[in-house]
Amino acid sequence: MDLKQHIRHVPDFPKPGILFYDISTLIAHGGAWKETVNRLVTAVTPMEPELLVGIESRGFLVAAPLAYLMGTGFTMVRKRGKLPGGTIHHVYDLEYGQDVVEIQADAIRPGQRVVVLDDLLATGGTLHAAVDLLRKVGANVVGAACIVELTFLGGRDRLDIPVNTLVSYDS
Ligand code: PRP
Ligand code: MG
Repeated sequence: MDLKQHIRHVPDFPKPGILFYDISTLIAHGGAWKETVNRLVTAVTPMEPELLVGIESRGFLVAAPLAYLMGTGFTMVRKRGKLPGGTIHHVYDLEYGQDVVEIQADAIRPGQRVVVLDDLLATGGTLHAAVDLLRKVGANVVGAACIVELTFLGGRDRLDIPVNTLVSYDS
């Protein structure tokens, strides 16, 4: 199955000149979504994670079914102020300004093998921030996986972990 046929291209979103790769149409199609999740299981299983991590918000869509199938459980990396109890945050730079990611302080055991999931790898800034945060709380980040990779943005080169992606676009 060609997963690309199920990913919609939306020009000029969220800004003029940006081509948005929309997974809404992929997750809405039962067969394509099942195939996507199964391929991710195949990609992530050799990394032998003890726990999966999903990045808010579209990363949750990916991490939840994977954790169910792999029997690992998963935890959330969220935007600031969404998680109850003790939390640890990490501030990171954007092109203009800064952003913050947060995790519950007791979400990860020191040395625990975790794999990070998101829907899309673009500049790599989001994934990089999540990895930094996870290391702050003692995780052993053994890899990451995404459905889509925009190779022309070079996100993979910013990361020091193995990253598995299912489909890629070079423009
Ligand atoms: C999108 C996408 C990735 C990230 C990729 O998330 O879901 O998380 O951007 O971009 P990067 O590699 O350049 O960091 P977005 O911030 O739009 O939020 P959402 O997942 O809540 O829709
Ligand atoms: Mg996202």
